[in-house]
Amino acid sequence: MGSQRLYDRLDHNDDFDFRPIEQVRVGLWQQTTLVSVTRAFRIDLTGRVCVDALGGSLYGGLGAQPDFHRAAAHSPGGRAIVALASRQPDGSSAFTVRLGAAEAVAVPRHETRWVVTEFGITYLHGHSLRERAVALIELAHPDDRESLLADAVAAGLVPAGQKLRSRRPYPSEEEREIDLRNGARVPVRPTQTTDAARMQDLFYRMRPEDVRTRFFRNLTSLTRDAAEHLCSVGYDREMALVAVIGSRENEQIVGSAQYYLDVSTGLADVSYMVDSQWQGQGLGAALHRLLSDYASRHGVRGFTADVLAENGGMFKILTSGGDATVHPADGVHELVIPVRPLPMPEGAGSRPSTPAGPSPSASAGR
Ligand SMILES: CC(C)(COP(=O)(O)OP(=O)(O)OC[C@H]1O[C@@H](n2cnc3c(N)ncnc32)[C@H](O)[C@@H]1OP(=O)(O)O)[C@@H](O)C(=O)NCCC(=O)NCCS
Repeated sequence: MGSQRLYDRLDHNDDFDFRPIEQVRVGLWQQTTLVSVTRAFRIDLTGRVCVDALGGSLYGGLGAQPDFHRAAAHSPGGRAIVALASRQPDGSSAFTVRLGAAEAVAVPRHETRWVVTEFGITYLHGHSLRERAVALIELAHPDDRESLLADAVAAGLVPAGQKLRSRRPYPSEEEREIDLRNGARVPVRPTQTTDAARMQDLFYRMRPEDVRTRFFRNLTSLTRDAAEHLCSVGYDREMALVAVIGSRENEQIVGSAQYYLDVSTGLADVSYMVDSQWQGQGLGAALHRLLSDYASRHGVRGFTADVLAENGGMFKILTSGGDATVHPADGVHELVIPVRPLPMPEGAGSRPSTPAGPSPSASAGR
């Protein structure tokens, strides 16, 4: 078992220590920053993980892997990660609505935390069965998502009509961090369908007057369906970004921006919403720059927006380039803004892959 390279590395290397498994198990629970990576072969859409069967037959043993996983999940600064390829060697999906008879559960659904494939990463703990199914389907191979969604609907895990528009990998290269006027450094990232609940939370924190300038009426609720419309996007003809605070396990959206392209005109309808408590910090302007930059690389000729005449902040952001066409009409400005790359927001850089701990105060951002 193992290659010569492995044995050469281990030979007389003090970095490695071999102890009886009983001792190792006890030691694991004393670790405060334990990270465990469990290699899996299959996962069902509720988050049950199989590690020892491949192609429907037994492939290997469990070993102590579940102990490492469980200890990492309870380690205060640790992370319990399940990693799998989106497809099995025979080309079938590694995701399934139901594990097969020979596919034993090594990690039960209540212990599954982070799941990662070559198409993205998601955190399952604390989420409903519907959210889990949607989150996991978005990690599957894009060509498998439609049939998995149909299976999830048939199994009653998600309702008919569930939105799940991504048919390409999550564009993690678009994740950024930006500096705001209040000193906070805030991550901005593309949305996923599972942001819907967070989008609803943002809506319910907005002041009624902000809801009116955003939706042009006194909306008192944002349905799940409407929230999904704002965050379930295909990343080509439609795109959405969110600015978030808090730990990655428990993010809160403080700003959102999205566009929907009309391919017949090359124009995309654009909209923005910044948490009432976070306005005036440059977040709206930063989201506009990042969205314009993305749109300019994805065949969008211009943005269109209807803005209430009283909405000075939105008007200023959209006309800041100096080349917007404005049609005033009955209290509403109809704007057409040519899309071109704008200067990047203050401090805009890639989002670090190792997240900082939770600190949702305005001064620290995260
Ligand atoms: C409109 C909105 C997105 C702006 O976001 P924001 O984060 O507050 O905007 P910024 O902090 O980036 O400010 C942008 C600019 O507008 C200016 N501004 C803000 N409010 C203004 C107002 N009432 N009149 C004139 N200018 C204003 C700011 O001073 C800033 O200019 P500066 O950079 O030269 O100082 C936010 O207010 C919002 O979400 N409103 C409710 C929803 C909404 O109306 N959405 C738009 C629907 S079309």
